[in-house]
Amino acid sequence: MSPPVLYDNHHRPITYVRLAVTDRCNLRCFYCMPEEGISYLPKNQLLTYEEMLRLVTLLARMGITKVRITGGEPFVRRDLMPFLERIAKITGIQTLTLTTNGVLTAPYVPQLAQIGIHSVNLSIDSLDRQRFACITRRDELPRVMQTLYSLLQHNIPTKLNVVVMEGKNTDDIVPMAAFTREHPVEVRFIEEMPFNGTGALAPTLTWNYRKILATLQAAYPDIEKMPDEPFSTAVNYRIPGFKGSIGIIAAFSRTFCGTCNRIRITAKGMLKTCLYDQGVLNIRDLLRACPHDDAPVERALRQAFGQRPKDGFEAERHRNTSATTESMSTIGG
Ligand code: GTP
Ligand code: 5AD
Ligand code: SF4
Repeated sequence: MSPPVLYDNHHRPITYVRLAVTDRCNLRCFYCMPEEGISYLPKNQLLTYEEMLRLVTLLARMGITKVRITGGEPFVRRDLMPFLERIAKITGIQTLTLTTNGVLTAPYVPQLAQIGIHSVNLSIDSLDRQRFACITRRDELPRVMQTLYSLLQHNIPTKLNVVVMEGKNTDDIVPMAAFTREHPVEVRFIEEMPFNGTGALAPTLTWNYRKILATLQAAYPDIEKMPDEPFSTAVNYRIPGFKGSIGIIAAFSRTFCGTCNRIRITAKGMLKTCLYDQGVLNIRDLLRACPHDDAPVERALRQAFGQRPKDGFEAERHRNTSATTESMSTIGG
């Protein structure tokens, strides 16, 4: 039986949940977190695995078909693999995906293949060890590359997330694109957003999608547009003869809100119906208040889905606090 389709108030289908399983991370990417002074959530404030399974089961009944596990870094949370195995078995969940920084992931790749993970998105902002260490404040590129090669060996579709940052890795755009010559990966260049724990960002974004595309076109004049998947955040390109492809994600310019099919659950169980909102429903407390009855949770979720902002700009205007100062580690990207 096909699942019911869940619509929001703008008649966009909601089919995709991004679930942050932890706010902790073993890197300190400067676009995501400050180097010091981060306070992590105490354990009792995090959703438990049982609560997450209950929530995803309910969401699947309502029409969600795709789950992406995010963090922080998901593998920093203990016993992630058995949890993933259980999520993969939930009726109605057709696609299970994961976003990881790859530092601890390599040993789990065979198991990920075994449970039928659909794809893995790996954050890797530079292929140059020194620049990687400078951006992430940790010298972990070799372990990340091990994960990458293991994913390829196991034929797991892999996307590489590259946040493009003025003065940090713009020299990596062309080498990253060149990496798709021999490797069947999708390299995605992402506009930097202000979710770095301080809200500080240059007043205008220098490296927007237009400039990223112009840089690629200058190096590869024959780069060509590819069709995009439905609901894709990335606009996709390929260079003729190359094994992989290239995407550009206008995360700050927000060009794709009209087809947004995703909701987010933060590590402490807040529902975000837009990346740029400040959290619209405390699901954790609701789940804990009605341990044996999903009906009130479902009602509250439906109400929130019926009040979604039409785009990330409207979501930003509705915030009580004017600036987006959260760290992406609490949201999951
Ligand atoms: P796919 O399932 O492969 O489409 O992945 P994804 O692009 O949804 O996931 P990923 O975790 O790899 O996100 C890539 C980048 O796109 C991250 O920087 C996200 O923050 C950004 N991004 C993802 N979803 C949204 C969104 O809804 N709005 C905005 N503005 N940016 C987003
Ligand atoms: N701006 C844009 N993308 C970000 N990510 C994390 N922080 C930011 C930011 N400030 C991306 C990383 C990661 C994904 C989940 O979110 O590339 O792969
Ligand atoms: Fe969806 Fe908000 Fe992202 Fe737009 S900015 S695509 S509405 S989450």
